[in-house]
Amino acid sequence: GYSNLTLQPEDSIFRLFGEFMADSSPDAINLSIGAYRGNDGKPWVLPVVKKAKEILLRDPQANHEYLPLEGLTSFNEAAAKLILGENSPAILEKRYAAVQTVSGTGANRIAAEFFAKFRPSATVYITNPTWGNHKKIFMAAGLPIIEYEYWNPKTRSINHAQVLATLKTALPGSIFLLHACAHNPTGLDPTHRQWQEIADIMESRNLNPFFDCAYQGFASGDLDTDAWAVRYFVVRGFNVICAQSFSKNFGLYAERTGCLVGIFGDEEVARMAKSQFAYLLRCSISHAPGFGANIVDIVFKNEALVREWKENLKEMSTRISQMREKVVQLLVELKTPGDWSHITSQIGMFSYTGLTMPQVAAIKMKFHVYMTDEGRASMAGLNEKNVENFAKAVDWVVRN
Ligand code: LMR
Repeated sequence: GYSNLTLQPEDSIFRLFGEFMADSSPDAINLSIGAYRGNDGKPWVLPVVKKAKEILLRDPQANHEYLPLEGLTSFNEAAAKLILGENSPAILEKRYAAVQTVSGTGANRIAAEFFAKFRPSATVYITNPTWGNHKKIFMAAGLPIIEYEYWNPKTRSINHAQVLATLKTALPGSIFLLHACAHNPTGLDPTHRQWQEIADIMESRNLNPFFDCAYQGFASGDLDTDAWAVRYFVVRGFNVICAQSFSKNFGLYAERTGCLVGIFGDEEVARMAKSQFAYLLRCSISHAPGFGANIVDIVFKNEALVREWKENLKEMSTRISQMREKVVQLLVELKTPGDWSHITSQIGMFSYTGLTMPQVAAIKMKFHVYMTDEGRASMAGLNEKNVENFAKAVDWVVRN
């Protein structure tokens, strides 16, 4: 039996993470998977999450009952407010549908299945490059995909002309997968003016925005700044679907905590959409897990904890910015050939270094530096102890 079985190639990001974990060199530098580390190189449990966990543990009412299929209702409402803003007309007019998902991946997958069901002839446009899982998720839901160039390797900036040209010629009714902030892997987001141009064409051509928001508050350190693009599209009257992850901004990676929010024209459509989201959840996972959502919910319900969360977000984003600056400073000191200023103009977890696949392979061999094949470095893996070695590795590979 199963004579048709073949070996599925491993997921490249998780494979690389596994390779790092198996590397016993004390000098190994993990710039692979997008997960925050402190200056000691260790995973960081946010202090606010520690407090919320203690509150949960002490709560005599806490139990392990089933949640509704939509997940934890108060968490969903707070998540929608977080991305849209408390006073968003979409919130006040109840024109939104929010369900808890298995983090950002689960939210993308439920959205993909929703599109496959209700926009069955739509093509999904994704940036090249994009997060490695996007293509897999949308293909798994049976949707056709078209990639377009987002990164201009010559200028190491967004190919905005190509973005606009793609929008202008996209198949009618298409879905555009947009990164709400801190584009993964390039760390480059459109400016407000560029978002406006994107929205203008999408509006006139009736294209559908789907936002993936994995870094709200983590990218700039400010929750509202990072939500700007999503809110802008909502204010312009688009039906917006948005996947939210709480992996990075709460450091809840393994707890798989996320939300899928849809914003529609009126309350009735939103109610129907929510029922469809819940149906898609039921026939895949029943409902998303409770633990992470409970932690986030405890924070959202407590003003002092929200303040502390914002400080934790600042701490993470500031440390990453400092590492960006340090890398550029060291490369300048080493007189490394080339212009490295893109490292500080990019934001969020990643730097898209511009190193080629052979260069990435060479510094993995010689310096035990683990970056994805395309030259993406998870900047949170750098710290005061290893940043010099990283700069030396880059310098060496550029000169060789
Ligand atoms: C990444 O891009 O490294 C992270 O978002 C983790 C993942 O799920 O791939």
